[in-house]
Amino acid sequence: MSKLFALLLVTGLTATVLLGWNANAGTTPKRSDLPKKEMTKVDRGRYLIEVAGCNDCHTDGFAQTGGQVPESEWLQGSVVGFKGPWGTSYPINLRLLINSLSEKEWISFAKTAKGLPPMPWWSLHNMTNDDLGAVYAYVKFLGPKGVQAHVALPPGEDPVGPFFDFDVHMASAK
Ligand code: HEC
Repeated sequence: MSKLFALLLVTGLTATVLLGWNANAGTTPKRSDLPKKEMTKVDRGRYLIEVAGCNDCHTDGFAQTGGQVPESEWLQGSVVGFKGPWGTSYPINLRLLINSLSEKEWISFAKTAKGLPPMPWWSLHNMTNDDLGAVYAYVKFLGPKGVQAHVALPPGEDPVGPFFDFDVHMASAK
């Protein structure tokens, strides 16, 4: 009798778990919406990359399409240069850089790097070691992909490929 009861209980619980799971199937929260303590290191890294806007420059087409680039293509750098008084800079391929470093090397690099504009290097300097470690874990999770970005061009040298014009222009008076 008690065996039957136990069996019924287990069946009932299993059904509840399955039904509950099914009911939630369409509304599973994005991993980055999870409370901080439930996030894995990789989730936290993805979240930081998303809210810090790294894809806007380090993923081709991301800013122009409102983020419509599959995650597997993120952070490979960009062939579109940023041309300004500093010359022309190209967002580097973070998938290749980060996957070539140890976590410790990445953290000390990120804490001291001062790239050309418009790289907001101060954002990296201000990240905690834990946050930089999470970014590292996330880019390791994505794995190496793509090719190295162009080397920056000095002022006065015209880029051959596409570029954003970051020089300030005055609107001509009518
Ligand atoms: C507004 C565009 C832009 C954004 C946003 C941006 N980067 Fe960059 N980043 C660049 C450019 C351009 C370079 C190349 C700079 C150079 O040639 O010196 C660069 C270079 C870097 C480098 C190499 C070190 C350095 O400072 O040059 C790292 C690491 C990096 N970015 C990481 C990130 C991360 C992580 C984020 C998000 C927190 C981010 N970037 C956001 C444009 C951007």
